[in-house]
Amino acid sequence: MAARGNFSNRLGFILAAAGSAVGLGNIWKFPFEVEAGGGAAFVVVYLIFCFTLCFPVLVTEIAIGRKTEKNPAGAFVALGFPKWKYLGVLGIISGIIILSFYNVVAGWAFGYFIEMAQGNFDIGNQFSDYITNIWRIAVYAILFMGATALIVSKGVSGGIEKAAKILMPTLILMILGILAYSFTLPNAMTGIKYYLVPEFSELNLRVVGGALRQAFFSLSLGMGALITYGSYLSKKENIVSSAASITLFDVGIAFFAGLMLFPLVAYSTGGDMSNIQGGAGLIFVTLPGVFESLGPVLGIVIGSLFFLLLSFAALTSTVSLLEVPVSYIVDEYKANRNTAVIIMAVIIFIAGIPSLLGNGYSDMLTNFITYVGADNPTDFMTFLGQLADIFLLLGGFLIVTFAAYVWKKANLHEELAQGHEGYHQSWVKTFINITVSYLCPALLGMLFVLVVLNNFF
Ligand code: PHE
Repeated sequence: MAARGNFSNRLGFILAAAGSAVGLGNIWKFPFEVEAGGGAAFVVVYLIFCFTLCFPVLVTEIAIGRKTEKNPAGAFVALGFPKWKYLGVLGIISGIIILSFYNVVAGWAFGYFIEMAQGNFDIGNQFSDYITNIWRIAVYAILFMGATALIVSKGVSGGIEKAAKILMPTLILMILGILAYSFTLPNAMTGIKYYLVPEFSELNLRVVGGALRQAFFSLSLGMGALITYGSYLSKKENIVSSAASITLFDVGIAFFAGLMLFPLVAYSTGGDMSNIQGGAGLIFVTLPGVFESLGPVLGIVIGSLFFLLLSFAALTSTVSLLEVPVSYIVDEYKANRNTAVIIMAVIIFIAGIPSLLGNGYSDMLTNFITYVGADNPTDFMTFLGQLADIFLLLGGFLIVTFAAYVWKKANLHEELAQGHEGYHQSWVKTFINITVSYLCPALLGMLFVLVVLNNFF
């Protein structure tokens, strides 16, 4: 075991897994998904999905990982079902696809940090030029992949866990700091109302599908990231309560990110929420102007802090995305960790080149943003984002179905009972039983089909 590495304790595991979950998905994407999905109505659906459909998948993934102490593909083999290894392989491929474009967007965020630190608030107006300036963007993407690789190469407790222990608390402090400040701005309440007052009339199948996709992506589910992290978790720890902490962490950060952002946006529009620019522009186009209006000193401080925060959040996610294929190579080919890290980082960076090159501004808008529907499925990044989303849903559906009907529930429960005194007598067991056997397979299967139909036909 020592060769594979271990998290040193429960907190280390929770912070690392929450670090994987909390990322661009929470701070960048969640607020404008909320906006597009009818405000609080979207939030309600999203919350229901997180706790009823996603939480059981999270628990199942961690249990499979911890039971087998293996990467997502090796885990199914170790359980005695070699054919199911392709489900793990699908997850590894999904991770590679996501990281290939996620790293590019993370590079933008880091680049914006540098621009803000120099007081270049005009960058918001030059966003389209900025992201098509290939060489500069490539440098940031290389730096970001390099930082990710460095952390992963240091191993589980010395790299991944340590980074999360520093970055996650810093992230929380930064969000709370900016949030407190944003509340003092004129029109803050207008922004908050806009964010939190539901318009249920805007709910439709597309929005519901979008909420599920957002929940899956945000919780890093369906591709084995949690199988991988679970494989480094000690048998002494309580999986269910750890998973609950991770879910709360992720949902909480998404919620606070919205709370932080909408007052800033309302301030920038003078309280007129009818013409805010949604989508990617919400952060990369609108916010630099907001920071500028705070005055040169405060603008630089808050502005650079914000984009640094976004970069930190992205970094703990890219680390988990890289760790999945790395663990596969280390386990299955007995490769040395450093070699595996270098090989995978280079391959994934190369896989990301089309995402790096293929973006004009409008293409970019369609990328992360239109997870919900394929309004404009023509460009490469959009296609990748949608493909990955579909894979995550399919992966999640198959993982719970596997656990309930192939591996069998009794085995899942036995693993969950380890480190959880009284599990067999608890209501939690009943909840996991019902969700993993019936609710998740049925609803995830159905929603998967609907999302595919909605996106590709
Ligand atoms: N959860 C991350 C985010 O919200 C993205 C991610 C997806 C990370 C899947 C790992 C696996 O940004």
